[in-house]
This record gives sequence, C-alpha cells and structure tokens, in this order.
Amino acid sequence: MRAAQIARSGGAFELVERPIPEPAAGQVRVKVQACGICHSDSLVKEGLWPGIQYPRVPGHEVIGVVDAVGPGVTQWKPGQRVGVGWHGGHCGMCDACRSGDFFGCTVALQVTGISFDGGYADYLVAPAVALALVPSELSAADGAPLMCAGITTYNALRNSGARAGDLVAVLGLGGLGHLAVQYAVKMGFRTVGIARGKDKGPLAQKLGAHHYIDSEAQNPSVELTKLGGARLILATVTNGDAMAAVQNGLGLHGTLLIVGAAESLTISPLVLILGNRSVKGWYSGTAADSQDTLKFSVLTGVRSMNEVYPLDRVSEAYERMMSGKARFRVVLTME
Ligand SMILES: NC(=O)c1ccc[n+]([C@@H]2O[C@H](COP(=O)([O-])OP(=O)(O)OC[C@H]3O[C@@H](n4cnc5c(N)ncnc54)[C@H](OP(=O)(O)O)[C@@H]3O)[C@@H](O)[C@H]2O)c1
Ligand SMILES: [Zn+2]
Repeated sequence: MRAAQIARSGGAFELVERPIPEPAAGQVRVKVQACGICHSDSLVKEGLWPGIQYPRVPGHEVIGVVDAVGPGVTQWKPGQRVGVGWHGGHCGMCDACRSGDFFGCTVALQVTGISFDGGYADYLVAPAVALALVPSELSAADGAPLMCAGITTYNALRNSGARAGDLVAVLGLGGLGHLAVQYAVKMGFRTVGIARGKDKGPLAQKLGAHHYIDSEAQNPSVELTKLGGARLILATVTNGDAMAAVQNGLGLHGTLLIVGAAESLTISPLVLILGNRSVKGWYSGTAADSQDTLKFSVLTGVRSMNEVYPLDRVSEAYERMMSGKARFRVVLTME
C-alpha cells in the first residue's frame, strides 16, 4: 500500500510503499477512501507533540470501509462505512474513562495519526473503539473533514451553554471555522463570522452567517459590542493576538471558547471580572460524538467546502492548507 509518512520531526512528506498492516486483537483495518488535512497535522510534521515515534503517517479525518477485523472484534464487520477521528482510543477502566471523560484517560489515551499511523495512506489499523458509523448520504470527501473540523466545532457549540437566539461569533474561517459558522446557524444562534480581509465576507454569508466582521478593517471587539456583545466566541484561529483582540466583544457572562492551538494568549483579568466572563478550552470528542456530528450534518445539510487532492500530491495539499488560502478544507483521496 501507499503511505505518506514523516520520517523525522520537521521532515518532508515521503510517499512510500508499505505492507498492508494486519489488525491485532481489538483492532480494525480500514481501507481509506479520503482523509482531510487538519492544521493539527503540523504537530506531527513539526514534532510539536511530545513522544511521537517516527516514521509516522499523519491523518485523523478518515473515511473508509472496514476491510478486516482483529480477534475479539464483534461490533464491526467488513464492508461497513466508517470514520476515524482524532480520538483513537482509551482504556475504559480508569476513573476518567468510567466517568465518560475519555480524554482524561491516564492509562491508554491514543491519538490517531500520532500514537499510531493515520489516514494519509491506502489503509490504516485503528482500535475498534475509535470507529464511527458513516451515514450513506455522505460521500467520503464530504465526510472526512467532519471527523475533526466538524466534530470539534459541533461538539464545542452544542456543549457551550449558548441558547437559540444568542449572539455567537466564530473567530477564523478556515477548516474548523467555516464548519462552525454553519453549525452555529443551524443550532439557531445569531451568528457572526470574523476573519481577516473582505474577501471572506461573501463566503461567510454563503455559509449562513448573519454578520461578518473583517478584523483587518474593523475592531472586532467594538463591532461585537455594537451587536450587543457575544454570549460565545468560538476561537478557531491559530494566533493568540487574534484571540486577544476579541475579548472586549464578550457580553455579560460571555465565554471565549478556545479550540485553536495558539501558543499563548493574553487576557485582561478586568474583562473577566467585570462581566463575569470566562475563557475555556474545548477538546474534540469521541466516536459517539462523531456519529452525532455526521447525523446532524446530514439532517441540516452542513457540508465542508473542500479542495480535493490525490494522495500523490500530499506535499502540495499540505502546503495549501498551511498557506491559509484553501477554501476551506483540503482533502486527500486515495482512489
Ligand atoms: N481543540 C481541538 O480539539 C482541535 C481540533 C482540530 C483542530 N484544532 C486546532 O484548531 C486550529 C484551526 O485548525 P484548522 O484546521 O481550521 O486550520 P486552518 O484551516 O489552517 O485555519 C486556521 C485559521 O487561523 C487563522 N489564522 C492563521 N494565522 C492567523 C493570524 N496570524 N492572525 C489571525 N488569524 C490567523 C485563519 O484565519 P482567517 O480566516 O482570518 O484567515 C484561519 O481561519 C489549529 O490550531 C488546530 O490545531 C483544535
Ligand atoms: Zn484535526
């Protein structure tokens, strides 16, 4: 099979031939059809995640078909259409797992494309617990970005406490952000898209946003305040200064909900104190959350806007995502 691997921290993509891997006990082999390229794949490429063992095949926005199951796997069978996301597995027995907080697993937390090889390949082998069932309405390329960009923003929004009619802003219109705008609209929020430059304005409108703020031409905090102050700002940008620039746009009891992995962030304690405001993070979700995301996307017509590349052009595809020019998700297809 073909696989696009990173041989060392900071290394380039190498397209290599590898034997098709066999699933061990509790594992499933998936024949990959499509895999989205997420900004978080830069953690693998640049060695920014502790303890990665190279060579490593990135990719945690996978859609494919179950190809073989390992011993003891009863819930999956060959031919089923499945997705694999960031959350690759957990022990199921520690205190965190037993309370349903799988990301708190201290025993065996696994991340797809980091702890084990991911979806930039013709096949991957994943723990059975990492698989989500994919509705037949979704094509592989349509479904792939929903497995990380989709689940992360959908899950963050639905657990945020914001209620229908509240002013919800999405900061950054990239892979995550353009899906977040659509989910926010479908969940009934008064939705504001915030991005750099005026060219994303018509796109934000097309995605359903009720308002657009060009953060280069306008002060996003001032504009949000004019709209009444945000109950929630979902920050999908990769830059801490861009996040800091919106904090004054939070309304009373407003929350700045961070999903973008910026390096640092400066928040004024007075901003937090005077309006009972908060800053909070949100971490992806599990396979069950992925299934909810896929079903909600089918129900409401939320889709990723994709630029599709064949696996052979992985370097170009990855650079396209990193450039910020992609409208809006780059997806690799294997066939
Ligand atoms: N929390 C989680 O579970 C989770 C899951 C997936 C990804 N992530 C993280 O979420 C972030 C976004 O991922 P993605 O795949 O959506 O990335 P992406 O498609 O590359 O989008 C990045 C966004 O960052 C903005 N941006 C980049 N540089 C900027 C700057 N200097 N100033 C202001 N804005 C800037 C861009 O904003 P414009 O629209 O204004 O151009 C763009 O919308 C990444 O940090 C990723 O690692 C987190
Ligand atoms: Zn991701």
